[in-house]
Order: sequence, then C-alpha cells, then structure tokens
Amino acid sequence: MTNDNKTDGSSQLWGGRFTGKPDERFAEFNRSFGFDIRLFEADIRCSIAHANGLAGAGVLSPEEADSVTGALRTMLELAANDPDYMLLDVEDVHSFIETRLIEFVGDLGKKVHTGRSRNDQVATAFRLWMRDETDALIGKVGNVLSALVSLAERHKSAVIPGYTHLQRAQPVLWTHWCLAYFEMLSRDIERLADARKRINVMPLGSAALAGTAYTIDREAVAHELGFEDVSRNSLDAVSDRDFAVEFASACSLVMVHLSRLAEDLILYCSQEFGFVKLGDAVSTGSSLMPQKKNPDALELLRGKAGRVFGHQMALLTMMKGLPLAYNKDMQEDKEAIFDTADTVAVCLDVAAITLNNVTLNEQKAREAAAKGYLNATELADYLVRKNVPFRTAHDAVGRLVLAGLEKGKELNELSVSEMQAVVPEINEGVYEALSIESTLRSKSATGGTSPVRVAEALAEARARIEE
Ligand code: ARG
Repeated sequence: MTNDNKTDGSSQLWGGRFTGKPDERFAEFNRSFGFDIRLFEADIRCSIAHANGLAGAGVLSPEEADSVTGALRTMLELAANDPDYMLLDVEDVHSFIETRLIEFVGDLGKKVHTGRSRNDQVATAFRLWMRDETDALIGKVGNVLSALVSLAERHKSAVIPGYTHLQRAQPVLWTHWCLAYFEMLSRDIERLADARKRINVMPLGSAALAGTAYTIDREAVAHELGFEDVSRNSLDAVSDRDFAVEFASACSLVMVHLSRLAEDLILYCSQEFGFVKLGDAVSTGSSLMPQKKNPDALELLRGKAGRVFGHQMALLTMMKGLPLAYNKDMQEDKEAIFDTADTVAVCLDVAAITLNNVTLNEQKAREAAAKGYLNATELADYLVRKNVPFRTAHDAVGRLVLAGLEKGKELNELSVSEMQAVVPEINEGVYEALSIESTLRSKSATGGTSPVRVAEALAEARARIEE
C-alpha cells in the first residue's frame, strides 16, 4: 500500500507505477521547490481550507480536521523559527507540505490530498500569493503618487518648457508635468485593481482537470480563503494563466510609466538641460572621472522595464500552444511572476525615494521656457482673436519666427514696427499676449496648464491620495 519508491532520496507524491528512478539531472530540472517555496504560506492556507472542506464532505472527522489544520498552522511557526525546517529534498512546495504533515500527524496526513490535485492546488496558492502582492503593489504605486504631489507642491508656480519631438514646444507648469505622471500611475492602480478581480477566483475543487469527486462545499472554502468567486469550469481553472498575464501586463505599464518618468528626469538633470538637481542619496560617482555625478537610480528604473516586458512575453509564449488542461510548461509561470512582482516593487520604492530627492532649478527652467519661440502659438491665437483665420495666422507667425531667427531675437524682443512689417494686424497689446503668464493662463479648458486649472488638479490629486 505504501509508496516507498523514494527514488530521488526523498519524499515524492507519486511512484507506485514506476520501477525505475528518475535521472538525477532530470529530477533537478523538474524540481520547482527552489522557487515555489515562496508559495509556502499561501499553500498552507489553501491546505487548511481544503481540510475544512474535506471535513464538510465527511472525508475527515471534525477531530481529524482539527489535527490536520493545527499541524499545518504549527508548520508555519516552525518554518518561521527554524531555517533548517525548509531544508528538504523535494520536488515542489506541495510535496514539502504533505511530507512534513505526514511526519507530524502520521497516516492522517495522507488523507489531505483527497479530492484535490497539485493542479488546482498550485493555481489556488499562486492566486492567493498574487492577490497579496497586487495589494502591496497598489500601496507602493500610491507612495509614488504621494511623492509626485509633494514634488509639485515644492515648486508650485514653477514653469518648464514642454516638449514635442524633444523640441521646445509650449511652456507648462512644473506641477502639470508632475500630475501627468500622477494620472498615468493612477490608471496603473486601476489596472492592478481590475486584474485583482480576476485573480481573486478560486480554482480549488477542480482537482486534476475534471472536478473533484467529493461533496466539498467550494463556496465555503472560497469564503474561508477570501476569494470573491469559485471557478466555473474545471478544465479552464487548472489550465489558464490569463490572470498572470494580466498582472504582468499591468506591471509592464507601470514600468513604461516609471521608465518615461526616469528618462525625463535623466534629461532634466543633464548639464544640457540643467533643470533638476538630483540628491546625493540617489546618485553615484565615477571610478575614473572625479567630477561625475550620475543618475543611476533613474537609469535602473528605465533599464529594468525590459525584464518585466520580457516576463510578460515569456508568459504569453509559454501559454499559446498548450492543449487543455494542465501542462508542466506552466510551472514556468512562477519565476516570471515572482521576478515581475519583485522588480516592480523595488522600482516603485526607488521611484518614490528618487522623487523625494529631486529639486527643480526654477530659474533655469523658466529661462528655458522663455527661449525658443514657445509663445509662437500664443501669437497665432492673438491674431485669431483679431479675426485672422488660424491657418493664415500660423503662416504669418512662422514668417515672424523666421525674421526673429535672422535677427537673433525672440518674438517678444521684436519691436511692434518690426512685427507689423510682416503682420499688419499686430499692435502694442501683443507683448502682454506673449508673456509666459498669459501663455499659461490661456490654457484654461479642463486638463490644460493654466494656473487655475492646475491648482484645482493639484488639490484634487492631494485629496485622492489622502482617500
Ligand atoms: N510545480 C508544479 C507547477 O508549478 C505544481 C503542479 C504539478 N502538477 C503536476 N501534475 N505535475 O506547475
């Protein structure tokens, strides 16, 4: 009756139908305990709920269920207090828990796998783990949002040049720039929260592929584990990992946003721009060039995006050709998701720290916003107010810019007569229109960079993070 065919020198959950031993290299290749050990706590929680489900189905007596769940809880403590407790030569975390449970409660431990498979077990434990991780990441994105709001509040009325094609385009408030990233990362929170809904569905009770043969109250088990719902189809439940792909995808977009934020700041703290000073806390020096101060924190935020995208692509590729239902290929989901979660978590922490170490050189940024014809569109709008059709005004201002370039003057440095020589509609009032202040003020529609709109947006952002 017993499985003594412990071919890899340890405990394994199968072996009865085997006469030969696994090749050692293959056993190592097959083994996931080195990484799925991270599911230990989640898998214990699932096993406790499953044991209660078995008691409900009459497979375990109430006393048996109590001994099993008590032992499983004690195993959490043993693992927390004794690092050696986790040292066991087993195939995966599920084998580990069952082996230790049998050590603990004897043959009773051999009943706990009744009516379940590692296929629904792993999908359930993985979802539990990812649910917690999603909550943690949402909190960390929230910290970056707070850092962006504080950074805006430190330089409330500062102006920077806004760019398109990395060419100076129109002036914007520094706060407007900060809040652009606030919006992007707020959507990331929504995406993570949305992915969480589909993560939070319980596969347990699907068994290997066909469903469990015992009258386990799946809804009660789900309730105990805090799952919002139970899966509706056992083949689907053990074999899809779309929830992992969605999580990776939401994480990829977080990284796109952190990477662009990093890129902007890398440019802004270069000597060529000189808008931003990065604190020593998030900078490094050169081993050779004594003068150097490098934005390594920002460069790593940009650089680490690639590995997260890579994991997402790996997951999609791993899934696309799999026949229903479970296939061992899917064991590859763990390392992809673990590294995704770890990478995004540390990047969010470092992003918040870095933003807290950013200081804007308000004068330099303003000077840059005043040079390079950033008020040209404003001049066209001025002419539109004088009833010149926009396309005609655009062309006239283009010619004025050309005249300014020849004379080495900004638009507002040209005299009225110099301007009138090209565009007769212009008069003295033009200088007021060309100021940075009025350029900003005019962008007063919702979402624009006028000081009034931006102050409202900042107050709203502050309220949102305090919620
Ligand atoms: N370590 C496996 C995984 O992560 C657990 C499930 C194993 N199931 C199986 N039928 N071999 O996918």
